[in-house]
Amino acid sequence: MESLNEHVQELDAELAKIITAVASLTDRIHSELPHRRGMAGTKNVFGEDQKALDVWTNDVIVEALMKTAVVKTIISEELGQPLENPDGNGTYTVTLDPLDGSSNIESNNLFGTIVGVHKEKETLTTGKNQVCAFYNLYGPITTLVYATKKTGVNEFVKHRKGSTDYFLGRENMKLPDKGKLMGLGGAPKDWAPQYKKFVDFAMAQGLKVRYGGAFVGDFNQILYYGGIFSYPSLVGKPQGKLRLVIEANPMSYIVEKAGGACSNEKGSVLEVKPTDPNQRTPIHLGNKDLIKKLEECFR
Ligand code: F6P
Ligand code: MN
Repeated sequence: MESLNEHVQELDAELAKIITAVASLTDRIHSELPHRRGMAGTKNVFGEDQKALDVWTNDVIVEALMKTAVVKTIISEELGQPLENPDGNGTYTVTLDPLDGSSNIESNNLFGTIVGVHKEKETLTTGKNQVCAFYNLYGPITTLVYATKKTGVNEFVKHRKGSTDYFLGRENMKLPDKGKLMGLGGAPKDWAPQYKKFVDFAMAQGLKVRYGGAFVGDFNQILYYGGIFSYPSLVGKPQGKLRLVIEANPMSYIVEKAGGACSNEKGSVLEVKPTDPNQRTPIHLGNKDLIKKLEECFR
């Protein structure tokens, strides 16, 4: 059984360092989850003061990434603005959603970490320039799914046979030819008529609705079963909810490497040049035929 540490040897050594730096924190993050389940500034069930879990997770991951000495800039949901490596080291820009789906913490539903890796001179660049993207899913089974051009999409499973490393679960993952599921974000009363038309079409095709409220979990199920994840434009909120740079771009990169497609209702999300690290975008990810149909509905 191949371990993650062995698998990343195929990659550029600096890129491998970024993946393993985040992967090595899983136990620490996982064991912290029950201690920081409530709101920041309150006491947890163990009577300890808590700092919000997403802030704590951000600090832990940022520290580990900076220590690799290969990261030049970090763009994180929790930081507001890009953070430059104070030592002036590094060539990579890493985008980070440290705890995606944080509203699921209290209810104990899925959440995860999303990372995108760029190697351009400019900090804010289009998603198609990513060299790698990966996510951690802190589910009943903790997994790490990473994609590069060279390796395709691979899923690693934590703790197999008691080891601290991750072991290969699924190699070179591809979306099934026919999609089964759809995860539909936003309140249906706020959906645009064009999107309602698409949803009617997909329902008539027999797709089932499954939505958990964490991008990582809702995307992960599409990777397995095929179909579409959407957080669409909404009436009164044309940019939807999810962030282009730290959320939509890494998952769009992964879905393309798995043979699927992404859209912002006009074209590929990966072609959009960001102007703000925090900008939002409508996002749809899944099987190519469904994304094509979605764009037809919006034309
Ligand atoms: O990061 C934002 C996020 O929590 C995503 O993980 C998820 O896809 C979305 O928001 C859920 O939003 P809503 O609560 O509106 O369904
Ligand atoms: Mn998120």
